[in-house]
Amino acid sequence: MQPIILVGAGSGATEVVELVRDINGAKPKYEIVGIVDDDMSKHGQVIDGVEVVGKIEKVLDHPDAGLVFCMGSYKGRFIRHSIMERVGVDLNRFINLVHPLAKVYSSATLGPGAIVHSGAVVGPDTVLRGINIIHWNTAIGARNDLGEGVIVSPNATTNADVTIGAYSFVGSASVVVDGLKLGPGCLIASGDTVLRDVQPGVFQMGMPPRVISREEVPESVLTKWNSDAT
Ligand SMILES: CC(C)(COP(=O)(O)OP(=O)(O)OC[C@H]1O[C@@H](n2cnc3c(N)ncnc32)[C@H](O)[C@@H]1OP(=O)(O)O)[C@@H](O)C(=O)NCCC(=O)NCCS
Repeated sequence: MQPIILVGAGSGATEVVELVRDINGAKPKYEIVGIVDDDMSKHGQVIDGVEVVGKIEKVLDHPDAGLVFCMGSYKGRFIRHSIMERVGVDLNRFINLVHPLAKVYSSATLGPGAIVHSGAVVGPDTVLRGINIIHWNTAIGARNDLGEGVIVSPNATTNADVTIGAYSFVGSASVVVDGLKLGPGCLIASGDTVLRDVQPGVFQMGMPPRVISREEVPESVLTKWNSDAT
């Protein structure tokens, strides 16, 4: 079995442990070595049968282990980006976990570290660029391009030809209509129907959606978005 380490001992860890169990149920594939977290008060705790074994830097002691991010909070949507820069882990160390009851079209491309939960659909010719979380019963339409770290919450729908910049968070039961571009680091509130392009870092909420605030997007993320757009 392939050893894996889960990064982040918050509420998302339980979801990932259960996901791994469901994947292993069909044919044992992964062995969870432990969970790592910067919060030392969690070290030694056992979450759903898996021990929190130390700080995140511990992943460097296990170069053969695949990695999975368990953090999925809209509040800290750039945390995974800063962890990768700080610890210096390669994106390719992250493994894909696809629930047996999810549907990923064969023409879709899953980047490293994609988590696709039960009931989700990833449409034809769609690309997930890395460490994405596609939650329960989410429908990602055809020909979407989801940047690194994008999270799409339960029951959200993105229609066809949607582009979402890195580390954006799409809230539960929201809808992004065809052909739109959402900049990196956006936060789309639960239940929104997004009808217009969204600028980088914007938090928007309500119906029709209104801009509530704008978060600073890390320079490297913004530069990549701007260069991809030209
Ligand atoms: C948008 C969001 C981040 C706001 O959170 P918050 O800042 O804590 O907001 P609050 O709950 O304090 O509410 C502040 C105001 O916004 C309103 N509001 C909150 N969420 C709203 C939403 N999704 N749509 C419309 N209005 C909303 C509240 O009614 C409240 O209005 P009031 O000041 O007139 O009473 C949150 O509601 C949300 O959508 N989170 C996404 C959660 C999600 O999808 N999680 C997936 C987990 S798997």
